[in-house]
This record gives sequence, C-alpha cells and structure tokens, in this order.
Amino acid sequence: MAKSVLMCRPEYFAIHYEINPWMDLECPVCPETATRQWEALYQLYTETLGWDVNLIPPVEGFPDMVFTANGALVVGDKVALPTFRHPERQGETWWFESWFREQGFTALYQPRHDFEGEGDALIWNDTLFAGYPWRSDQAAHAELASFLDVEVVSLQLTDARFYHLDTAFTVVDRQSVALYPPAFTQESLEAVRHRVPNVIEANEADALAYGLNAVSDGERIVLSDRATGIAERYRQRGMEVHRVAIDEFQKSGGGMKCMTLDLRGRLQGR
Ligand code: ARG
Repeated sequence: MAKSVLMCRPEYFAIHYEINPWMDLECPVCPETATRQWEALYQLYTETLGWDVNLIPPVEGFPDMVFTANGALVVGDKVALPTFRHPERQGETWWFESWFREQGFTALYQPRHDFEGEGDALIWNDTLFAGYPWRSDQAAHAELASFLDVEVVSLQLTDARFYHLDTAFTVVDRQSVALYPPAFTQESLEAVRHRVPNVIEANEADALAYGLNAVSDGERIVLSDRATGIAERYRQRGMEVHRVAIDEFQKSGGGMKCMTLDLRGRLQGR
C-alpha cells in the first residue's frame, strides 16, 4: 500500500548539542554525506516505492528538524503535536503545527506532558504502543488515549541508547512487530507478546546498526544497510527488503524511521 509521509531536507542538520548518547560534539556530521543519504532515501520512497512524500521546509537553528517523526503523531484527521523534553528542540513544535494547519488539519492537540511524536508512539492495528521514560512521560499516554480515543499500551524503555520507541521497535505488518528485547522491561515485553502474534526479536548487532528504525508498508520494508541479520529474516518471510545507508544520521541518534512521519496513521477498523 502506498504510504503518505512527511520528510524534511537536512539543510541545517548538524550536531550542535548532545541530548542522547549517540550525539557527540566532537564527532560532527558531514553535510554532503548526510544530503546524499537523505536524497537516496527520498528517491527510494518516491521513485522505487511510489510513496507520496510531503516536505516541510527546514528551519535554520533546528538541526534535528530532519527527524520529522518527532514532529507529530497523526491518527486519521487528528494530530498530536510534540512537547519536546529538551529546550533545544522545543521551538520545532511551532513549525510543525503551522505546517499541519496549512494543510487543513484542525484537530490538533499538544500534550501537557513530554511527548515526542511518532518517535515514541507507533500504531499497530488498533493499538498504540507508546514509549517512555527517556523522552516522553508516561503521563502523556493518558492524554493521547483521550484525545485519540484509542487504547495506549505503555512500553518502558530501559537502555538510554534506545531512547525513542522507534529505535528499538518496528511495526512490520498486521501480525508482526520486531523489537530488541533488552531495550524493554519484562513487563513491557509481556504486554507486546500478549497482543502481537508474531514478535520478531532482533539481535544486538542489528539493534546497534539501527535496524529497528525501519519503515514498512506491510510488504516492503526499508532499513539500515548495516542491519544484515534482520534483513535476511524479512526476506525469508517474503518481504521486499530495501537497505539504505543512514550512518551519518545515526551520529545524531536517528535513522530512516525518525526521518519519516506517517501522515496516514490509521487505526484498524476506523
Ligand atoms: N538528535 C535527535 C534527538 O535526539 C534524534 C531524533 C531521532 N528521532 C527518532 N524518532 N528516534 O532528538
């Protein structure tokens, strides 16, 4: 199924601060490499996969705006805006809100508690899996549940390297998700296994290569070119696998899923 997503060119992408364990001011990004990697992803989406890619103009002073998955969570015609934990990113909300209003969205809500958009909230059928505590507060999950009228299953993340849910959890298809078990509490793993018939477990090497920060339309999956193990497992399941280099963005703690906001988030049956 063709997806409709929101991306942002990495024009101002850089490491200007450190707000997660991957970011290191001593380890700057190469703008040319970042642009090349981003454009390859954009081309794959638009030309090879035929997805509809919308673009939000990049804003100087917001180097992480390229990670549009943190800019909102869209469910039907409702948009939950982000309440960023770190002051460095808080100004992005205004730009994302303006973009959604320009597109005609009117049902917008910004949680009072910290919430970093789709980066910490992934829809699987009629369930919203939401991550905490590194960048979103669990208290925001109740706000989301009432705004979106959806069941929210809170998943507690345990490893600071996997600080957003989408760094350790992939929605693969209607029967399956993939995750890196050590990044979650036992209780949270049970909550997933209780609901999802097929839970694919990624190994440490694939998780560290950001192999779980992947984008799937149920039949085709786009993931980091260095995540070889899990790519093979998707292939064995009959999926079409597209591997892309994103290591320049991983210096900032991001991958392709972070750069891809789903504009057609739907709950099953609605
Ligand atoms: N440097 C960004 C930050 O720390 C990376 C965001 C990654 N986004 C994501 N959805 N995982 O906020």
